[in-house]
Formats: sequence, C-alpha cells, structure tokens
Amino acid sequence: MPLIRFGVSLEKDLLKQFDSLISQQKYTCRSEAIRDLIREDLVRKQFRTNKKIAGAITLVYDHHKRSLVNQLTNIQHDFGHLILASQHMHLDHDNCLEIIAVHGSAKLIQKLSDSLKSVKGVKHGTLSLTTKGNEF
Ligand code: NI
Repeated sequence: MPLIRFGVSLEKDLLKQFDSLISQQKYTCRSEAIRDLIREDLVRKQFRTNKKIAGAITLVYDHHKRSLVNQLTNIQHDFGHLILASQHMHLDHDNCLEIIAVHGSAKLIQKLSDSLKSVKGVKHGTLSLTTKGNEF
C-alpha cells in the first residue's frame, strides 16, 4: 500500500514524552510508533464491533489441580472452530504454560478467553489481540 506523508502538530512537551516513550520501546522512528498506535486503536474498535479478529490466549496453571486440565480441554473443544493451534509447555514440576492461537468473532473469542481464565486453578491468563491489517 502506498505511504502518505502528513504533518502532525504537537505540544513540545508532549512530543518530548512521546520520544522518550518510544525510545524505551526501541522504536527507531516516530512513524512506526504512530502507525502502531493507530493500528492498536483500530483493533480495539474492531473488537467492539465484533468483527473477525486474531489473537493469542496464554494461560499458566498447575496441572496437579483436580479436573483442571479436563475442564480446559472441554472448553477448547466447545470453541474448537475458533482455535487455530495450541501449544503446551511444561514450565517446571507444577506449572504449565499454554498458548492458544485464535481467529474468529471478537465476541466469541472474548467468551472463550473468559471461560478459560475463570477455571479454578488457572493462575494467570491473558488475551492478546491482533489484526491481519486487511481492513486498515
Ligand atoms: Ni505441562
């Protein structure tokens, strides 16, 4: 897609803070940082309007907890049409890390993520959203 240049006016102080932030985030130019901010906002909008979205759910849990693994598997089968792939890693003697790649309706992905995170024994869960960028 062709790039279009446009000018942005900002308060000096705000720009200084922005530059400091993006340098911490290892951006090498403002344009890329601004592009990412815009995409981030558009992904959020896509999410609100229940468009098709892609993402990753990560879960950390203790596999010794009674029936936990079974529950997680049952939920994933219920939402099987949204799941592209999943990977299970054994972090240590007790803890497992599971990463589930998802693609589909934003509302259903949120529901899947909530269901998995709320299973008793899941220590931490995140849903990270991304986009194919076709729409913008
Ligand atoms: Ni494991």
